[in-house]
Amino acid sequence: MFDTLLRHCNLPDGRTDIDIGITGGRIAAVAPHLPGPAGEEIDAGGQLVSPPFVDAHFHMDSTLSYGLPRVNQSGTLLEGIALWGELKPLLVQEAIVERALAYCDWAVAKGLLAIRSHVDVCDPRLLATEALLHVRERVKPYLDLQLVAFPQDGVLRAPGALDNLRRALDMGVDVVGGIPHFERTMADGAASVRLLCEEAASRGLRVDMHCDESDDPLSRHIETLASESVRLGLQGRVTGSHLTSMHSMDNYYVSKLLPLMREAGVAAIANPLINITLQGRHDTYPKRRGMTRVPELLAAGIPVAFGHDCVMDPWYGLGSGDMLEVAHMGLHVAQMTGQDGIRACFQAVTATPAAILGLDGYGLEPGCRADLVLLQAADPVEAIRLRATRLLVMRAGKVIARTAPATATLSLPERPGEVDFRLHRKKV
Ligand code: FE2
Repeated sequence: MFDTLLRHCNLPDGRTDIDIGITGGRIAAVAPHLPGPAGEEIDAGGQLVSPPFVDAHFHMDSTLSYGLPRVNQSGTLLEGIALWGELKPLLVQEAIVERALAYCDWAVAKGLLAIRSHVDVCDPRLLATEALLHVRERVKPYLDLQLVAFPQDGVLRAPGALDNLRRALDMGVDVVGGIPHFERTMADGAASVRLLCEEAASRGLRVDMHCDESDDPLSRHIETLASESVRLGLQGRVTGSHLTSMHSMDNYYVSKLLPLMREAGVAAIANPLINITLQGRHDTYPKRRGMTRVPELLAAGIPVAFGHDCVMDPWYGLGSGDMLEVAHMGLHVAQMTGQDGIRACFQAVTATPAAILGLDGYGLEPGCRADLVLLQAADPVEAIRLRATRLLVMRAGKVIARTAPATATLSLPERPGEVDFRLHRKKV
């Protein structure tokens, strides 16, 4: 007998009317018409049941700090970095913890149960590192938080940054970060990539760098990152985040770069909401979109995830932890509006980032941890279109969040009743 049985589920791979049996916090069976009774039965009613959303790129040390100490007037990346520099000396640990926990509440409500967050390690006090290590433990029962040691001001450019980064890794931060395009020269940027990849290789850690987050077609640190991955045997454990310069690169150069990334086992993370906002700021018109080449990367066999990057912080004043909003923007910017493209964008906020983070037991196969989201939508395409309500969120077989279905009722005399936003085509 199952502890819990979810009846009549649609799955992201297209299977319909499937039952999911859960025992001891794990998925025990996935098949049509599983035998009951169970401790509890939940009728999914032909709606989508997905593994949880995963955000592969976030900044939890700055989240929900919007307006502190002032608002970013220009809206640019550089004013954001300067503003964060003003805020850093004023930060206190309890406030970082409080804001991070509040964001994790939002995340859980939206079915987002795994987040890779960069944490700025340039402050020698390592206040934010300590705060987020504490938060990682606090949220462990319900959310997987993976931390990246991120030298925001440049590991070579900022005095003491390498030492601080190593101390953060010694304290238990999971992943090695970097920001080569923010070093003073291209040569320094390349040197920082080599140094940081060697640090990761010697410690057996993964790498995730902010890489080429600019509109400069000649910012090519991703090439160094890929070649270092091969040199140090880090294939499958290295990620380039942002990669916005690829938007502006020469096509011939990209035709060489993509196979190199594929051979090096380097994954890519685009951050559509932020890339569309921060890039192209030096352009008049035509104005570049500034997101990396998502369909081309996917066609070359390179895993691509979408990250939220920022929510209400010095760089971005919007957001609510909704990865469907991220996917929605991503498919528009990348012009991935075909059915396959939209499904790939759903993958980019679920299974692909789960693989990039190396999450254990993620998925809907028997044996996986029973982490699930029931959405008010029939399939992934409808989920993105409607930014569907997360009716129920489950962690290890226990319901941890519920949201009432979104409904609207018309009081028009001619057409009274509930509005149904699904497409019911009866005639051509
Ligand atoms: Fe970022």
